[in-house]
Amino acid sequence: MEYNSPLSLEKEKKLISLLKMTPDSQVIEVGCGNGKFLLSLMEAYEVSVLGVDTDSMLINQARGAADTRFENRTYRFICEDFQSLNLRSQSYDLLICNGSSHAFGAGAHAVSSVAQHANRLLKQGGLLLLGECYWKKAPPQAYLDFLGQDKGIYSDYKGNIDLVHAQGFNPIYATSSSQHEWDNFEWSHKQITRECLKGDPTNSQLKKKMLRIETWLDAYLKWGREHLGYGFYLFEKNTLCQK
Ligand SMILES: C[S@@+](CC[C@H](N)C(=O)[O-])C[C@H]1O[C@@H](n2cnc3c(N)ncnc32)[C@H](O)[C@@H]1O
Repeated sequence: MEYNSPLSLEKEKKLISLLKMTPDSQVIEVGCGNGKFLLSLMEAYEVSVLGVDTDSMLINQARGAADTRFENRTYRFICEDFQSLNLRSQSYDLLICNGSSHAFGAGAHAVSSVAQHANRLLKQGGLLLLGECYWKKAPPQAYLDFLGQDKGIYSDYKGNIDLVHAQGFNPIYATSSSQHEWDNFEWSHKQITRECLKGDPTNSQLKKKMLRIETWLDAYLKWGREHLGYGFYLFEKNTLCQK
């Protein structure tokens, strides 16, 4: 699986083309996972990157891939909780948060918290690339119960833009995952685990994992596919945006 989010390689390319980084650009991704986006960004631009994630296995993967592909380039992949980092204010040109808003804050406050942190960390004119869930329509209570949410913690598609705009960011592009991208993402977990089980059919951990995935897929088919969307939003930090 390339991404742990419904982002296709085609959309990755489009988003990267919009970023227009320069050789001195400083980039941070919070919740960078296996580093896929930052590695692709480094292919496209001569940027310096910092990837942060709490998952040591993913950070090791990111580091390993960077070590083989980007000799003499400036990159760091660190296994840390974003909240524990002491990062310098106003020092980044791009902050990426794709599916990781929970690293910034809990529940319905997460997106605003991303924007507040981005406001502090970004230089004037810096970019925030946000990948975030949204409700396509109001979810039934049974789906919220399944997700463990008392009430929906997400906004609608435009609501995400409004939350970030309210913190002094100007929206400059927005799109969303297609049904095709969502389906690929959701079913990829089952495909990967199925392949692993073929090679190790008695592995009880894998069998339990498969059961969890099938329960999740059932909810996706019943409710998620109809109600839950995933948006990609690009914002510029500025003080001139008007609303
Ligand atoms: C849904 S995944 C998205 C990963 C990646 N952006 C991608 O699209 O493949 C969310 C990631 O956030 C990381 N994460 C969660 N809380 C975090 C925190 N407090 N600090 C840093 N990373 C965190 C998780 O380990 C996970 O890899």
